[in-house]
Amino acid sequence: MSVVVTGATGQLGRLTIEHLIAGGTPAGEITAVGRSADRLAGLAARGVRTAVADYSDAAALEAAFAGAQTVLLVSGSEVGRRVAQHGSVIDAAKAAGVRRVVYTSAPHADETALVLAPEHTATEQLLRDSGLAWTVLRNNWYTENYADAVSAARESGVILTSAGDGRVASASRDDYAAAAAVVVAGGEAHDGRVYELSGDVAWTFAELADAASQVLGTPVAVQQVSSDEHHAALLGSGLDEGTADFVVTLDGDIRRGDLADATSDLRDLVGRPTTPLVEGLRAALRA
Ligand SMILES: NC(=O)c1ccc[n+]([C@@H]2O[C@H](COP(=O)([O-])OP(=O)(O)OC[C@H]3O[C@@H](n4cnc5c(N)ncnc54)[C@H](OP(=O)(O)O)[C@@H]3O)[C@@H](O)[C@H]2O)c1
Repeated sequence: MSVVVTGATGQLGRLTIEHLIAGGTPAGEITAVGRSADRLAGLAARGVRTAVADYSDAAALEAAFAGAQTVLLVSGSEVGRRVAQHGSVIDAAKAAGVRRVVYTSAPHADETALVLAPEHTATEQLLRDSGLAWTVLRNNWYTENYADAVSAARESGVILTSAGDGRVASASRDDYAAAAAVVVAGGEAHDGRVYELSGDVAWTFAELADAASQVLGTPVAVQQVSSDEHHAALLGSGLDEGTADFVVTLDGDIRRGDLADATSDLRDLVGRPTTPLVEGLRAALRA
């Protein structure tokens, strides 16, 4: 069974390839697609086939996908350009005769007001309209997203948030990669399935501060502020306006509950509990 993993120079793509190999998919049956041959060289040295293609380069994508049954489309990182890019990946998969595309989306993409969701919702629709078999992996947040906040709390002793009592059902990036590998290596049973992947536990920022205390071995408290205060503090710490807007909007989404749904889909796919918050933060800070 020949599979393609896009975004293979990124963290989720690389971890998914590790899990595919560990799960018994021969390296020679995997094609890793990225934008830089240099950054794919490590995988090539292990016998993984590699191909260089940008998500907007239809011809390179089609050549990379030739002979593959399944393509894992790891959502891109260029916010605002992703629908066209993902559409070009889906079109190339179809042109190359690929059977199924697996796509990494956002929690409850079809009904959420989450700031990042619209490009995922649109991509899911492109997949449904493509005529290809598809599987959607709606990934909740990575625990690693909070590694910087925890690191900074070593000095400041606080985690600043405007998310109120909102909860985040995060899991470690590696958990999502393990689930992606199960789905990519799996067969038709995953066709047409939408998995809401999350950690087993949805935590509050007060619980994040407790976890940070355990990881750092020093007291960390949560500091709840209004959105405006949060925005001002982020600008004061050197963030640019756009990034500060984004962080505050995201905390508002969390306050509304957009990331709070802890499901069993991830642990069911991987056959074990997801990585607990403390353990996930500890590993992220070691990395
Ligand atoms: N659930 C979450 O908490 C969360 C957090 C952050 C991101 N995400 C989403 O999940 C995806 C995977 O996460 P990650 O941690 O693996 O992110 P990452 O390390 O930034 O990897 C993103 C991958 O996408 C590739 N890519 C981006 N734009 C591309 C394009 N136009 N053409 C070809 N490849 C392109 C990147 O290539 P280069 O290496 O060449 O840049 C990289 O390989 C992200 O891209 C983003 O959509 C989710």
